[in-house]
Amino acid sequence: MSAENISKFVELLSESLQKQTFVKLTLGNYRGKDPHLQKLLIRLVKTKKGSRLFFLYRFDTRDTAKNFDQEKALNIIIDILGKDFFSGHLFTVENDHQLDIGKKGRSRLNKGKPTFKSLPSIDHDREKNILVDPNSFYLKALGITTDRGEIRAKQHDKWKQINKFIETLDNLFENSPLADRRKLRIVDMGSGKGYLTFATYDHFKNSRGLDVEVIGVDTKDQLVRLGNDIARSSEFTGLSFVNGFIDNFDLKNTDILIALHACNTATDDAIFKGIKAGADLIVCAPCCHQQLRPQIKPPAMLKDVLKHGIMLEREAETLTDGLRALLLEESGYKTKVFEFISTEHTPKNNMIVGIKSDKTIDESRIRSQIEKIKSFYSIQEQRLDELLSANRNLPELIA
Ligand SMILES: C[S@@+](CC[C@H](N)C(=O)[O-])C[C@H]1O[C@@H](n2cnc3c(N)ncnc32)[C@H](O)[C@@H]1O
Repeated sequence: MSAENISKFVELLSESLQKQTFVKLTLGNYRGKDPHLQKLLIRLVKTKKGSRLFFLYRFDTRDTAKNFDQEKALNIIIDILGKDFFSGHLFTVENDHQLDIGKKGRSRLNKGKPTFKSLPSIDHDREKNILVDPNSFYLKALGITTDRGEIRAKQHDKWKQINKFIETLDNLFENSPLADRRKLRIVDMGSGKGYLTFATYDHFKNSRGLDVEVIGVDTKDQLVRLGNDIARSSEFTGLSFVNGFIDNFDLKNTDILIALHACNTATDDAIFKGIKAGADLIVCAPCCHQQLRPQIKPPAMLKDVLKHGIMLEREAETLTDGLRALLLEESGYKTKVFEFISTEHTPKNNMIVGIKSDKTIDESRIRSQIEKIKSFYSIQEQRLDELLSANRNLPELIA
């Protein structure tokens, strides 16, 4: 039964290559010998020797790539399906085909509507290792690409940001407690025009093949309506946009919380919601840090350093994001703070990540550190700190 479905699946692949309807192939559910290999992503590329199949081996922390001619590629795929990889997702412009190989020789081969309605560009100068398909309808609808799937001249920075974000999010997911989950709920706070919200949905639903629900929340009704219209046209049934303020949004059972460039303390509101909802992964890139700067009274030893406006501004940014990371740690998250993209593409490039941890934490040590920092700089109020404190005191108030 398995062998029969594997042969049928490879025939469908071979036929799609001949008919030039092939979009891409993803092999997953890896059970081979390499403990770090996760999946294999295959697409067509144009090389000096003609068209080749480009194999991108995705490991937990890196990718490696190889090109094969079609005959060799098909032989490799026949060899590894059912031996190393136990699922295959073939995308063609006619249909999607999903192969799942189970235990004891059982398997399933399902056919569905095509996710992609046009062929991808196979030019050799296409960027390497990109996870976002430039031919996606939503990218055209949002004005990032032209009808031919080319990135518009003024949208290269945005395109880089979207790709880097998806690459970062995918790596974080892979190394989080969510890695084996088949069902996910993701909320994007301050989703704006929804570039990252769409790319997130497309990635987890169509590339990873998970059962996902993604919700974008924003105060701008026009953008919310635009997002919902494009989601409908893309047939992204699990993606929706909601009009509202982050702090009023009733966030329940959320696995991943995203907040990219949510203005000023909206980032604090988003992190707080994520912590309260018990999200396993909280990913945010703050912008316009305005709350702390007017409060800071430079300590005597730093007076001559912080007398320069730019230095005070940077100090305020560092303190804001440093305190946010500490508050996440105090709330039971392991944290990472890093630059997720080069400043050439956006100056607001710091990313704060919280990964829920079940390790015991020394809350009083972290609290004492937070209080010392606040006192050193004379900081009276920090939004996330206040929200968390109020939440901690809530049961007492009710009692
Ligand atoms: C700079 S845009 C970023 C959009 C998107 N996250 C991105 O990175 O492409 C910030 C968005 O956050 C929204 N926003 C700011 N404060 C908000 C709040 N308190 N509640 C909901 N949305 C908010 C704004 O309307 C705006 O669309």
